[in-house]
Order: sequence, then C-alpha cells, then structure tokens
Amino acid sequence: MVQATPFLLLLSLALVAPGLSARKCVLTGRWFNDLGSNMTIYTVDEEGEFTGSYTTAVSDTADKIQPSPLVGFQHSVTQNRQPTFGFTVKWTFSDSITVFTGQCFVDECGNEVLKTMWLMRSHVDNMKDDWKATRVGNNTFFRLDSPKERGCQHGVSCTGGRARCVDTCPCPTTCFSQ
Ligand code: BTN
Repeated sequence: MVQATPFLLLLSLALVAPGLSARKCVLTGRWFNDLGSNMTIYTVDEEGEFTGSYTTAVSDTADKIQPSPLVGFQHSVTQNRQPTFGFTVKWTFSDSITVFTGQCFVDECGNEVLKTMWLMRSHVDNMKDDWKATRVGNNTFFRLDSPKERGCQHGVSCTGGRARCVDTCPCPTTCFSQ
C-alpha cells in the first residue's frame, strides 16, 4: 500500500498533465490586443467553429464604439498544439468588415499569444474609390488576466490569487506573494 502511493501519484500525473497542456490554445476566453481592444470567444465546437464579441479600442468613425459580433474557425488543437484560426468581425457601428487570420503560440513561459494579421474593408460610395477601401495590419493578443495584462514584460507565468509577476527574463522561477 505504501509502495503503491508514488506509483498512483505518477500515474495520475501522467494522465492529467497532457490534458492540462492540451487545453492551451483553445481560443475560448477573454483576450486583449496591443491596441487595447478586447474580444471574448465563446465555446469552440467540435468542428472548430466559434462565435464571439469584439470591442475595438480604436475606430475610423465618429460613431460610438459598440461591441460587435465575430464568427470564425480554428484548426484542431489535438492535431496541432499551435493551431491556425480565422474570424470575421461585422462592426455594428460602422459599414466596415474586418477579417483576422492568425496562429496561437505558447511562449517560453507557457503563455498563449495570438499572432494575427487583418484586412479591413471600409465602405466606399463608388467603384472608383475601391483602391482605398481596404487596409491591412497586424495585432497580437494576450489573455485577459494574464501576467502580460498585469504589466509583466516577459510573459511571467505566475497566475492566480495573490501572486504577482516578477520581471525576469526569460522566465521567472518564483512568484512573490503580495
Ligand atoms: C471601423 O473603424 O469602421 C470599425 C473598427 C475597426 C477597428 C480595427 S479592426 C483592426 C484593428 N484592430 C483592432 O483591434 N481595431 C482595429
């Protein structure tokens, strides 16, 4: 019985650990980007399809910014731990549409980072203005309530409770308690 305890501990670790890491890069959750925009992605279904809500921090219009719906797909996390994805945002307060395409990465500290590029189509009144109707850019997203949001420069992975980040590079070995 005494000898069985370490064995059971190892067995349960072996069973639980892959499950924990597999949860990384499922897009479900709350994210913010380098412009300060926020998005929430609801459940990603078995086909990789998802919906969500996007609140941009910046806009080309004078109209009041409103949360706007998004729909997208992501590739399976089980097949590839750093999956690609794409989604479209239909802005509710403007005539524009933005499509994002990107990939989820897990950095050296275990934090998820979404590297994306986007194309934004603005409405123009006439076909002769088509040349100026599409803009391109990139955004990097981090999880809300992640160490990055708390001001950590190197994606410190001390999460939860009263732990605060320690700005060491590349990764901290300890978390300080406040
Ligand atoms: C508009 O101005 O017509 C709608 C808002 C567009 C916001 C853009 S989409 C790409 C970039 N990333 C963001 O988070 N916001 C801007």
